[in-house]
Amino acid sequence: MEILIYLSWVLLLALFSFVFLKKKNQRLPPGPRGLPIIGILHQFTGIPHKWFHQLSLKHGPVMSLPLGLTTAVVISSSEAAEEVLKTKDVETCTRPQMLGARRLSYNFKDITFAQFTDTWKENRKVSMVELLNFKKLQTFKSLKEEEMDFMVKKISNSALEQSPVDINNISMGLVSHILCRSSLGQNLHTNKFFDEERIIQLVMEGSLATGEFGVADFFPGKLGNFADWLLQRKRVILEKMFKELDDFYQHVIDDHLKSLDGPKGTDPSADIVSGMLNLVDKNGTPGSKRNLDQVKGVLMNLFLGGIDTVAIILIWAMTELIRNPRAMKKAQEEIRSVLGDKREKLTEEDLEKVKYLKLIVKETFRLHPSVPTIPRESMSPITIQGYDIPAKTRMYINVWAIGREAKVWKNPEEFIPERFIDSDVHFKGQHYELLPFGSGRRLCPAVSFASGTIEFGLLNMLYFFDWSLPDGVVAEDIDMGDIGNISFYKKVPLVLVPVKHH
Ligand code: HEM
Repeated sequence: MEILIYLSWVLLLALFSFVFLKKKNQRLPPGPRGLPIIGILHQFTGIPHKWFHQLSLKHGPVMSLPLGLTTAVVISSSEAAEEVLKTKDVETCTRPQMLGARRLSYNFKDITFAQFTDTWKENRKVSMVELLNFKKLQTFKSLKEEEMDFMVKKISNSALEQSPVDINNISMGLVSHILCRSSLGQNLHTNKFFDEERIIQLVMEGSLATGEFGVADFFPGKLGNFADWLLQRKRVILEKMFKELDDFYQHVIDDHLKSLDGPKGTDPSADIVSGMLNLVDKNGTPGSKRNLDQVKGVLMNLFLGGIDTVAIILIWAMTELIRNPRAMKKAQEEIRSVLGDKREKLTEEDLEKVKYLKLIVKETFRLHPSVPTIPRESMSPITIQGYDIPAKTRMYINVWAIGREAKVWKNPEEFIPERFIDSDVHFKGQHYELLPFGSGRRLCPAVSFASGTIEFGLLNMLYFFDWSLPDGVVAEDIDMGDIGNISFYKKVPLVLVPVKHH
């Protein structure tokens, strides 16, 4: 039934646009022509970065795609990405508005999906203090060490029973514990309302819902909005997700407000929620809807944007290592020789001594960026690589494709951590061939927190355990497919058998 309604609306819109609308811009970048009105929407394969990549091989690194009545420009080379994110950063540092993100960000009161507004500036400032500040990162150290210890014990139990572990689950669990404690002040070991399993489920479902698009995203205007209104099922699912997440954020906020005399409530440096609530107080409008929505919007970014993105890299690093036993052996030999064989616990300082492990993480960022395409929107007319891009054009930087650019990377599809040995290429937003965290004004504020957590997690997994595939499974059997909407997971969970090293 919904399909029928959808098709009739597409047809109606087609008729309407054929009569009333004409494409004005003649100087757009090259791209496929597509059908009248729907453009190339009917060809969508479900995985945007791979679809865009295939199209860009034919149409070039700055490509224009007709998606419904909108036009998107896709950037697929490091040169063009530099021009967008560095030279034209001021003109492209806003985000397109999409259905799921709008609802789950409290109408863009957040950081990640907000347009370039005062609210964004205000929220971003808090996040920079909380997530980038060196002193702040130091305070997370002991908490991270405790959670690593918990993960090692969990894997050790499986090793004792010689039973396989689901690396997707282990990684999501580890990062959920770290992030909920460090940023939200919630200890999942003792929390009566939310346990690890529930949190993982919320993050995965919420993350998918954030990337949902509606008919109006491609057919803007009243008719598109009306079509979205008619698509009941999508709306109901989105509302249900919104309510569940809202309950969670409200619980986190109430917990902080309850302990106003305690460490979380009054000390703005306790965690980011305290920092944000403190701002609400200073503005003289504690509890006001507008500001509370703002706090919840930022909570959404941390919760939905901070857990899976980190876990995804851990999962892919382990996947690549099990497929490349040579790299796994080299990493473990280095780690165990420099750290000694008899350590009960590791610290973040140990990371300074393990060079090869860091190359592994870099190479994983290159091949499997958690956010494969970065959405931006032009705020005024700009020129990129000689092509005119009108104001308000949706732009996607295909970081996934740029990590495979044949002009830049030798044997781009192969997992070769050594390629970074004599290279100063980093992932902090200054090298446009490696952009897992984006760049410019909208650069991810959690680069150090995230990369440190990934390296530390991997260090613990590789130091304490040897890993193998379950009986009867060979490396070639491993499914390398991904799934998602904004962040992309390994579709089939990675299952490995751990053996305790000592
Ligand atoms: C490996 C882990 C992560 C990856 C790959 C990643 C990637 C990204 C990317 C690509 C962007 C967009 C950058 C741009 O537009 O140029 C972004 C933005 C953002 N990330 Fe991350 N991220 C990660 C972890 C985290 C964590 C742990 C947090 C918070 C706890 C976080 C919070 C944010 C926020 C708030 C923004 C929005 C910045 C803005 O629009 O101004 N990220 N991230």
